[in-house]
Amino acid sequence: MTELMKLREEIDRIHADLERQCAGLTDRAALEAFRVEFLGRKGQIGELFRVMGRLAPDERAEAGKLLNGLKTVATAAFEDRRNDLEGTTLRARLAAEKVDLTLPGVYHSLGHRHLLTQVQNEIESIFLRMGFDVTTGPEIESEYYNFEALNIPADHPARDEWDTFYIDDTTLLRPQTSPVQIRVMEQTDPPVRIICPGRCYRRDTQDATHSPVFHQVELLWVEEGLSLANLKYIIELFVHEFFGKGYQMRLSGDFFPFTEPSVQMHMRADRASDWLELGGAGMVHPVVLANVGYDPKKVTGFAFGMGIERMAMLRYGIADIRTFFTNDLRFITQF
Ligand code: PHE
Repeated sequence: MTELMKLREEIDRIHADLERQCAGLTDRAALEAFRVEFLGRKGQIGELFRVMGRLAPDERAEAGKLLNGLKTVATAAFEDRRNDLEGTTLRARLAAEKVDLTLPGVYHSLGHRHLLTQVQNEIESIFLRMGFDVTTGPEIESEYYNFEALNIPADHPARDEWDTFYIDDTTLLRPQTSPVQIRVMEQTDPPVRIICPGRCYRRDTQDATHSPVFHQVELLWVEEGLSLANLKYIIELFVHEFFGKGYQMRLSGDFFPFTEPSVQMHMRADRASDWLELGGAGMVHPVVLANVGYDPKKVTGFAFGMGIERMAMLRYGIADIRTFFTNDLRFITQF
């Protein structure tokens, strides 16, 4: 047998061998081993090229063709297998990482304004439409603004009505928004037309209707020629705007050192229901007007203070004031 014939047989054997092996390759490592085995520099095909040296010159061209053919076949088999394997890997990855678009999404719950803030905003917008400005004052207040200027001298028994938290002898947490009346009038000449919403503090024991922290909205209108009739009109307008046209209001006598006369405001849904208290009000006391440098003979004014929690409780039928502050989501998310 000539060298060339031997070479042909060897090529056929390797050819069959590599095709069989190639078909069984299932991973990258095996594929690489295959490449080294057949196509590597010291691989089976590479070794065959050495035989060339032993061939007669006229046989070499033919042998070269055969060997190159084998190399091409091996390279093609290797590359096909590699592409197959990569495709399989990719498909496996795609299958594993598949996003199921039919699954429900992840919902982020949006927050919203607390009921008290909603009610406060609504009250503000009602009075803004009537031409009032919205102002604020400090929650840490001096005794002067909270009492003296409001015609409640030291030792006056009326101080007992406001169970006040004192910070020191002359500083306190305001128990009402009325001191803002003084601050505003000190800064402005009449006419004055403001409301002031804000937090108040009282040394009350907590129960269904008392909370040491609560909110009030104060109203103050000072101008020439105002009377209790104007106050009554404004309150009625407000009750109709906030609660609805079907609601009625009523004023009855009361006492506050900073108003004269003083009244209590009530409202009710219809003739059958009970009167519910909204807050205190009255014509600004002449002493208070004089305290801020106004001339009580020229201007008169009226003021009221209402509890914001109370208004929310009346409108939404909330029985316990503490629910506003305990942050129970079952309550908060209802509004
Ligand atoms: N400040 C009073 C209170 O908290 C309410 C009030 C305000 C009364 C304005 C009259 C005028 O009880």
